[in-house]
Amino acid sequence: MSNNKRSRGPCVSEVVGTYWGDEGKGRVISYLSQKGVDLTIRSTGGNNAGHTVYDRTGKKHAFHLLPSGIMNETSKSIIASGVVIDPEVLHQEITELSASISITPQNFVVSDRAHIIMPYHKKLDAIYEQMKGDSKVGTTGRGIGPAYADKVHRNGLRMGDLSLPQNELRAKIEQALRPHNVLLKSMNEETFDVDAMLEYCKTAHENLGQYIDDSQKHINAAINSGQTILIEGAQALELDIDHGNYPYVTSSSPNASSTAGAAGIGPIFITDVIGAMKAYCSRVGEGPFPTEQENEVGDQIREFGHEYGATTGRPRRCGWLDLNILKSGKVINGYTQLCLNHLDTIGKLPEIKVCVGYNYNGEQIDYVPESSELAKCKPIYETFAGNWDTTGCKTYADLPENARKYVEFIEEQVGVPISYIGIGPSNEETIVR
Ligand code: IMO
Ligand code: MG
Repeated sequence: MSNNKRSRGPCVSEVVGTYWGDEGKGRVISYLSQKGVDLTIRSTGGNNAGHTVYDRTGKKHAFHLLPSGIMNETSKSIIASGVVIDPEVLHQEITELSASISITPQNFVVSDRAHIIMPYHKKLDAIYEQMKGDSKVGTTGRGIGPAYADKVHRNGLRMGDLSLPQNELRAKIEQALRPHNVLLKSMNEETFDVDAMLEYCKTAHENLGQYIDDSQKHINAAINSGQTILIEGAQALELDIDHGNYPYVTSSSPNASSTAGAAGIGPIFITDVIGAMKAYCSRVGEGPFPTEQENEVGDQIREFGHEYGATTGRPRRCGWLDLNILKSGKVINGYTQLCLNHLDTIGKLPEIKVCVGYNYNGEQIDYVPESSELAKCKPIYETFAGNWDTTGCKTYADLPENARKYVEFIEEQVGVPISYIGIGPSNEETIVR
């Protein structure tokens, strides 16, 4: 699986998002996991992610929390400590998938250290957005930011807390609720009741308790026995709280190093970092997007690529591919390979543009400035002929010449091989080079 595989020891690959999410990470992960993976780990974000995968019968599944590798029944899946978990969403995903796949404590583990998204986090997410008015982030409204904020305030509840004696759990909930209820009361909003939250936790424990364990012991065992591990990134580099377009970002660090760290795996073990990308760009929510096409081209990309959110159903903003972002990501994420999805989609346009640099204060630059400066950047484009059809192509050589020219241009500009090319939604429509 890895171009970079070591001769001995574990093989740890990561799939991370290169732009603003929705690059087809779930698709690459389910493809790779079926090629033979012992363990898949989801380690960042929460149910703000939407990873679409197809099972063997062609049925579509949209995962928000479950690692996409769970589709491979012979491997183990872990939700690691860096994830924030909405217990109702996780329970629903498990219930739905259990109709086709057996999910047991033997093949699925939830970290006892992962933080819980509580009902008040969702309420706070909406309130903070509302308070920001025109400068709202455009969050998914799933309570992600407030749950991570409580974690950083050391005021969070963790999955392991669900099994505490009632009096201890009650005390934790009381403490966690205190600052939030002060705020809600001051706004004449309904406050949250300790008993109701205790009941909420009880249900969560009944539904999920069997899967909660110290995930690190499973990860240590996998590393020490030289297993093949796949880390499933969520979100993407430009949504990273440190490296993305702050404040229009998510509240975790989906870059490759932090994703591995949150999975409980040190950098020395990472053998491969696969950047998932599309042949164009898309973004949901607010924030700068230099190559956005708020015109017929953007509308065509959205329709051809079915660019509507898997999580919120929101129409995605669409635009041309931006190589500055990929070039920055090459250093921050350290891509060893790229997976280029939707090559079929972009080929439906007669003419395709690619951003090869920005004009920034009269100078051409090849990096991504900080958010408010990025908004001032004007993309510099190169134009390519489109109108290609990838139907039935099985190998790279089968692809139309213009499609290959497009792929090779990206590789040459960025200096990272494109090893996987998606030409349709199913795993079979993947060209491996
Ligand atoms: P996957 O894993 C696309 C975006 C939201 C919003 C910002 C903050 O499917 O690629 P949040 O709810 O996280 O506080 O929202 O981040 N966002 C995503 N956009 N795909 C995702 O995940 C996203 N996760 C968060 O739209 O702009
Ligand atoms: Mg998404």
